[in-house]
Amino acid sequence: MKYGTFSPDGREFVISTPLTPRPWANYLTNGRYCALVSHTGGGYSFVDSSGYNRLTRAHPAGMVLEDRPGRYVYVRDEDSGRVWGVNWQPVQAPYEEWEARHGQGYTVIRSLNDGIAGEITFFVPLDDPVEVWLVRLVNRSGRPRRLSFFTYLEWALGSYGFDLLETSFANLFKTVTYQDGMILAGMRLWNVGHRPAKPHLPWPLLAFKAVGFPVVSFDALRERFVGVYRSLANPAAVETGRCSNSLADGQDCVAAFHGRVELPPEGEHAFTVVVGAVPVRDEAVRLAGKYRSPGAAEAELARLRAWWDDYLGRVWVDTPDPDFNLSVNIWNKYQCWVTFNWARMASYYIGGGSIVGFRDSSQDLLGVLPIEPEWARRKVVTMWRHQFRDGGTLHNWDPITDLGPRTGHSDDALWPVLATIAYVRETGDLGFLDEVVPYYDGGEGTVYEHLQRSLAFTLGRRSERGLTLMGEADWNDGLDQVGIEGRGESVMTSEFLCWMLREAAELCRARGDEAQARAYEEAYAELSELINALCWDGEWYWRGTTDHGEVFGSRRNRYGRIYINAQTWAVLSGVARGERAYRCLDAVRDHLDTPYGPCIFLPAYREVDDHLGIITMFTPGVKENGTIFNHPVSWCIIAEAILRRERAFELWKRSSFLTHGRHPDRYKAEPYVYSEYVHGPDSPFFGQGEFAWITGTAAWMFRACLDWILGVRPELGGLRVDPVIPSDWSGFRVRRRFRGATYDIGVANPEHVVAGVREVRVDGQVRVGPDANLIPAFADGRLHRVEVVLGGPGAVRPVGLAGKGTAAT
Ligand code: GLC
Repeated sequence: MKYGTFSPDGREFVISTPLTPRPWANYLTNGRYCALVSHTGGGYSFVDSSGYNRLTRAHPAGMVLEDRPGRYVYVRDEDSGRVWGVNWQPVQAPYEEWEARHGQGYTVIRSLNDGIAGEITFFVPLDDPVEVWLVRLVNRSGRPRRLSFFTYLEWALGSYGFDLLETSFANLFKTVTYQDGMILAGMRLWNVGHRPAKPHLPWPLLAFKAVGFPVVSFDALRERFVGVYRSLANPAAVETGRCSNSLADGQDCVAAFHGRVELPPEGEHAFTVVVGAVPVRDEAVRLAGKYRSPGAAEAELARLRAWWDDYLGRVWVDTPDPDFNLSVNIWNKYQCWVTFNWARMASYYIGGGSIVGFRDSSQDLLGVLPIEPEWARRKVVTMWRHQFRDGGTLHNWDPITDLGPRTGHSDDALWPVLATIAYVRETGDLGFLDEVVPYYDGGEGTVYEHLQRSLAFTLGRRSERGLTLMGEADWNDGLDQVGIEGRGESVMTSEFLCWMLREAAELCRARGDEAQARAYEEAYAELSELINALCWDGEWYWRGTTDHGEVFGSRRNRYGRIYINAQTWAVLSGVARGERAYRCLDAVRDHLDTPYGPCIFLPAYREVDDHLGIITMFTPGVKENGTIFNHPVSWCIIAEAILRRERAFELWKRSSFLTHGRHPDRYKAEPYVYSEYVHGPDSPFFGQGEFAWITGTAAWMFRACLDWILGVRPELGGLRVDPVIPSDWSGFRVRRRFRGATYDIGVANPEHVVAGVREVRVDGQVRVGPDANLIPAFADGRLHRVEVVLGGPGAVRPVGLAGKGTAAT
C-alpha cells in the first residue's frame, strides 16, 4: 500500500493517510529547540537536552503504537456536539480529507471534517527556543457554523526519566500559573543524573504555552481536562464543550485552551499557539508576543523556508537517477542537519537520554562540513575540548552538566583526528592546527597537539604482539565483553589507527613537520604489516580476539564468521593491498549480501556468548546482531568506490531509504531518511527498518554519494574529481562551494565507463598532468566551470559484479 509520496520539487513528503505502518516523524529544530513531530502531531519537545529539559511528555512504547500524546487541536460543533481532531489524533474521527506534509523544519497537517477545513503548521523559528503552531479553520460547509476548539499538550517538565518513572512523585514539584492566554509551568526539583553536588535544584527553565485567541476557558489539571476513566480520545472538557479553568500545582499538568468562533460560509479563523521554555517569565511573554499574530508566524515561516533554500542549494547534484538527486540534495542532507544537532539523543524509539556521543558527533559533523564548514569547525573544537591530557577522551557527555564517562573504548580518540583532517581538507585551513583548545582535565594545547596525543594514546594501547586492544569496545558498541580484561584485540581499531596514521602523515607534511610525518608512516607500515601477517583468515580478515584468546569473525566460528568492517576498513586504510583487497570485498559480497544490502556480520549469534558481549544478546537479526546496519554499508560503498568497482552505486541504491520506501508494509520506517538498521535474514522481520533518523549513516552516506560515487572530494591540494558511477549514466553535474568559490562541475560519460577521467577543463582551459583532475582552490568568490570527460584507455569498464542480492526496487 502507498501511504505517501514526495511533492514534485522533493521538498515535502506528503502522507495521505494517518494510518501509516508506524508514526512517521519529523524533527523541527534550530539546534537548540527540538520538536519531534509525527505525521499526526504526536511526539515531544525539548530545549538543549532531551533528557533534562523536556517540555512535553511522550512514552516510547506509547509513541510507537498509539502515537500519543502530542500537540492537538480538537474541534467541537456547538450545535451537533460532534467532536474531531484537526490532527485526526487523538479522536480518530472519520474525516472527509486528511493529509500531512513533512518539510524542512516544519510539518503541516490538513484535514476536512464535517465541512470544516482545518490546518496546523508546526514549525520551530530560526532563532528562538520555541515552537509555533499556526492553526487555520475554514468553513467549507456552506452554512453558518458555531465551533469550539481546544488546543492541548501535556507537560513533562525537566527530567524526562523522573516524569516517566515516578510520575505521581514528580508531579508534587510542578507549579502552574495562568495569565492572559498563557500557561506557565515550572518544576521545583530538577532531577538531573550524575550532577555531583547540590542535587536539589529547581529546573532553571519555565515552560509556557500561549495562544493568540480570546480564551473562553482553560485547564492545567490533566484530571479535569481529560477526566477519570477517559482518554485523550474523549476528554471530558471537549465533550462538555468547556474547560474548568483548573490550575494544577503539585498535580499532573497540561496546557489546554478553549476558544470559540462563529464562521459564516467560507469564513476563516486563524491563530497561533506558541510553546517554549525560557529562564524567566518576561522572556516567555516577549516570545509569545513575537509570534502571536498569524502574520508574524507566516513571516517567520517564510524566513525559515528561505534559510533552507540557501542551505540546500550550497551543494546540489543533478544525475540521471532521481532517487540519488532527491536523497543527496534534500532528504539525506536534511537528516545530516538533524544528526549534527542531536546525534543519538532523541527519537521516537529512544529519547530519555541527555548524552552526546563522542564518536557519533565526530562523524555527524561530516554531513554539514561541505555546506557550513564553520559549524563543523566549532564541533571539532568541542570534540577536542573533551579530550584528556593523556590523549584519551570522554566516551560521551551530557550537554547540561558537561560531565560524562571516560570508558576504555578503543576507537574514541581517533574520531576527532578523522574530523580534523576532513575539516582541513575542506577548508585548506592549516592554521586551524595552531588553534589552542583546552584539555578536559586542565591545561591546553594546539589542535595539532591534541591530534598527536590521540594517535600516541591509541598507539600506546596495544597487545603484546602489537595489535590495538579492544578495551571496552570499538565502533561496534556491542562487542563490550571482548576486551574488558585488557587482552582482547580489535582489528577494526587497528585498521582505523592505520588509516589515521596515514592521513595524519599527509597533514604533518603539509604543515612542514617532516619528522612527525615519517614517524607516522613508519608506525603505519609496521602495524599494517602486522595486521596482514596475523589477521588474514584465508578469504577475509578476522575481526578480533577476546580476552580468552579466541578469534572471532573467522571461518572457524559458528556465528559471526565474517564481519564487514574488518574488510571495508582494510580497504579504507590501505592495509589490504593488491589481490587481498579484492578478495576481502568479494567475501563481503559472497557471504554478507542480502536483497536489502550487506550485513554487519553473519550468521547472527543464536547463543549468548559472554566472551563477546551484548552483541550476542540481541535477538538474532536485530540491532547489531547480524543486521543490515546502514552505517557500515556506507563504508562498504566507499571501499567499493576506492577499488573502482561498479558495485558502489548499486549498493547505495539497494540500501537507500527510497528503495526500501517502495515497500512500506515490509520496511515500516520513515521512507525519507535512513534507518539505523534493517532486520537481517535471521530475524522473522527480515527487511524491516528500525530507529530512523538518528544514525551515523546519514553523514557517511552523504559523503559516500558526494565524495566517492560522484567523486567530488576535497583533498589538501584542491578538489578532486574522480567519479565511480553506473556505466549507463551519460553524465551528471555537481555544484558545490569550496574554499570561497563555487564550482560548477559537469561530467560527461560518452563511452559509458564506470570510472576513469580522460579530460579536464577548468574555465575552458585543458588541465594536463597526473593530477589534472585535482582542481585548485581559487578562493576568489567566483563561479568556476569544470568540465570532465570520462573514458580513455585507462578507464574502468563495467564487468558485471552484481552481488547475491538483487536490487529490491
Ligand atoms: C550506535 C551508536 C554508535 C555505534 C553504533 C554501532 O549507532 O550510537 O556510537 O558506533 O551503534 O555499535
